[in-house]
This record gives sequence, structure tokens and C-alpha cells, in this order.
Amino acid sequence: MKVDVLLGLQWGDEGKGKIVDVMAPKYDVIARFQGGPNAGHTLEFDGIKHVLHQIPSGIFRANTKNVIGNGVVLDPVVFKTEIEKLDKFKLDVKQNLFISKKATLIVPTHKLLDQAYEKEKGDNKIGSTLKGIGPSYQDKIGRQGLRVGDVLSQNFEEKFKKLTSQHFAILKNHDLEYNWDELHAQFKQAIDFLRQFNLIDSEYFLNKEIKSGRSILAEGAQGSLLDIDFGSYPFVTSSNTVTAGACTGLGIAPHHVGEVYGIFKAYSTRVGSGPFPTELIDEEGEKMRKAGNEFGSTTGRPRRCGWMDLPALKYSIMINGVTQLLMMKADVLDTFPVIKVCTKYKLANGQISDTLPYELVNEKIEPVYEELKGWNVPLKGISEDNMPRELSEYIAFLQKELQVPITLISTGPDRLQTIYLKP
Ligand code: GDP
Ligand code: IMO
Ligand code: MG
Repeated sequence: MKVDVLLGLQWGDEGKGKIVDVMAPKYDVIARFQGGPNAGHTLEFDGIKHVLHQIPSGIFRANTKNVIGNGVVLDPVVFKTEIEKLDKFKLDVKQNLFISKKATLIVPTHKLLDQAYEKEKGDNKIGSTLKGIGPSYQDKIGRQGLRVGDVLSQNFEEKFKKLTSQHFAILKNHDLEYNWDELHAQFKQAIDFLRQFNLIDSEYFLNKEIKSGRSILAEGAQGSLLDIDFGSYPFVTSSNTVTAGACTGLGIAPHHVGEVYGIFKAYSTRVGSGPFPTELIDEEGEKMRKAGNEFGSTTGRPRRCGWMDLPALKYSIMINGVTQLLMMKADVLDTFPVIKVCTKYKLANGQISDTLPYELVNEKIEPVYEELKGWNVPLKGISEDNMPRELSEYIAFLQKELQVPITLISTGPDRLQTIYLKP
């Protein structure tokens, strides 16, 4: 069977957690392929709201296996807290969760380095979540990282000491306050905890599932515009968030990829620094933030808000080979009389373009907008058959521009507030 991929087309927080949870019953396996505790994926059902950071969003479905792939950077301390928070739901986590031995470990000094590097950048800081993502991927690529499988080796402590002593050599040039004994003790405890789980050769596991005809959904984290290669560099995360990342982050060959579900909000948000052409730094942006409750699921920071950006979305669709589009948070625009969509950019030299320019950071680009009429009725409780005309027109407009079918719209955070559209 093919592996379907679901990923964010904007700057993250598109609603991936909700949709993976909604789609999970259709799949045997949900597999995270990149990122780590910088992610915050929110699920809502039966009046419960839950935020997952490293655990795949299929964990609440009893018959679904969940895999943390080799492309992920795993913080064992965050992992322990996450699992403990799930205790009250009486899930069979030990049975249903599998962690790749080849996933990279985040050690406490990675988080300290993240802080040190951001401090050093001053006004040019990335706005990182400070979860140790950049430094841990740096060690992976630098071929000196620790991996989950290392926790099973006799000399794990020795390897840990070797790595952290390199980190301390850098940290001594930065004035950060921390209690190492406490951080170290907490880490050791978390490693003991991690050893109790299914630590597996996930590439063999997943390929066996494919061969046996079982279905897999690869769950992306962050968004395509935060991709290390294709995002607004250097204001990006440190992994490949795009479809290709699912192949390298899980060990599945490209021909196994089936549907690519590209998920986007009916508008745009970004958290942290970096270019955001359609950002609204005014009352309208404030209204969007309030209506969408746009505050980070991981850090609580207010998210920057703005209108839909089609050149950016088209770029993401191209890089990812998106086959179906899922539009989230349509309800947030319920009270906007006019909906603006950026269809082109006016570049610094006055040229009009519908592609993303290389230089996004140092040159100002101005969005060129088309305006559509808002629907001005609450979308709560609607179905495909009684959708307001203006919403249908918005969907039709986007489909025509993007040339990919929109097959789902979301009108609220709950599982049930989901409408499948007939193609
Ligand atoms: P993720 O990182 O892509 O999983 O997204 P987050 O969970 O960080 O952020 C999405 C937020 O929007 C969460 O608070 C969700 O509960 C919420 N949400 C998801 N879908 C909808 C929707 O259709 N309407 C509204 N109003 N909220 C939604
Ligand atoms: P989910 O999976 C939104 C942003 C950070 C920062 C930049 C680099 O919930 O969509 P990092 O911690 O990776 O060094 O931060 O990327 N960022 C996210 N923004 N959603 C996320 O994940 C994000 N993960 C990282 O705010 O700008
Ligand atoms: Mg999120």
C-alpha cells in the first residue's frame, strides 16, 4: 500500500494535529518524520483539548500504531512529560508507540546552545522555540550526535559525556545561568524511562507494513515555508519539512508515496521572526489573532497574522507535489466583510511577480491583493449542502488559482467540525 503524507503548506500550525487525528481511523500507522518538540499539534474531541509535541497524532486511536521516525530529534525529558500527561487517558502507549533507534537525541546542552546562539544573534534572532532543534540537527549532520539506539549501549554515559563536553567548551563563552546537576539528573531519569519503550529499526518496520498491505500516514511538523532548504532562510527550522523529508525521515522510497495532503489556513500566520509578506500589523490582524486564538501551542507566543498568500502557497504545492488541499480555520473569517487574497507580489524594483523571490529577507515585497466578499454568517454546524455562497466562491477561487482540489474544510477545532467536499 502507498504511504500518504500530510504536511503544512505555510509557516506551521495549520491544524495538522487535528486532521491527522480525524484521518487516523483510515490508517494502520501514523508516522512522524521530522522536527521534534518545537512542534505543537492540537487535538480536540469529547470536550478534551490535547497538545502533542513529539508523539504522533494517531495516539488517541486504539487501533493505530504510531511511529517516531529516524528524521525526528527526540528530547527524552519532553517525551517523559508527554507520556505522563497521557496517563489519564488510559491509552496503551507502550503497545502502540514505536521509536526509531536512528532518531537523534536532544540532550540538555542542545537547549542551552539554542539559547546561547539566539542571544548572540540579538535583533536577528530566528525566534526559535529554544527546544534544542538547531543544535541537535547540527550534531546529526556533523556526524557526532547521539541516537535513540545509543541508550541501549553499555557506554551511553561515556558517549553523552563526550558530546556534552564539546558543548560546554562553546557554552563557557556565553553567560547563561543553569543548574547542570539538576538538568543531568532529569535527563538520566528520562533516558531510563525511554528504555522501556519499543525502540525499533523503523525503516524495516515501515517497509514491512507497506509490503503487508497496511496503510501509513506520514505526519509532518512545522510547515513548508520553514523548510531548511526551501523556507525563508535563515528564518527556518533545521529539517526538511516537505514531502521528500518523509522519504528520508522514515526510510521509505519515493515511489511508495501516494496522496500528499497539503494543509493550509484560510489566512496566514507565522510565529517567530522572518519575512511574512501579507502580515497585518493593524486592527484587522489583531481581530484575526483573537478570532483564531492564534497563540503558539508550544511557546504561547502570539502568532503573527495576515491574509492568504497564493505565490507562497503555489510554491509549497509545487515543492511537495500536493494532490489534495485541506483548508483549515475557515470559521475564523466569519465576521470579515471582505476577504483579501494576495495573488502576486510587487518586487522592490517595481516588477510584478507570482513567484517567491530568492531575496525575501533584505528586500521588501508588497502583496497585490484581490478582494472577495466575506460570508458573514457563523460556519459552526454547516455542511457541504448549506455552505454560504461566498464560502463556495472563496473555495472555487482558490482551486482555480492553485489547480489542486480542496477536499476538506475545517470550521472549528473539534474532530466533528470537519467537512469533506465532493471532488
Ligand atoms: P498544528 O501544529 O498544525 O497541529 O496546529 P496547532 O495545533 O499548533 O494550531 C492549530 C490551532 O487551531 C489549534 O489550537 C487547533 O485546535 C485550532 N484549530 C484547528 N482547526 C481549526 C478550525 O477549523 N477552526 C478553528 N477555529 N480552530 C481550529
Ligand atoms: P508545528 O508542527 C510554527 C518556528 C519557530 C521559529 C522557527 C525555528 O506545531 O506546526 P526552531 O524551534 O525549529 O528552532 O524554530 O520555526 N517553528 C514553528 N512555527 N509551528 C511549528 O510547529 C514550529 N516549529 C518551529 O517559531 O520561527
Ligand atoms: Mg503547532
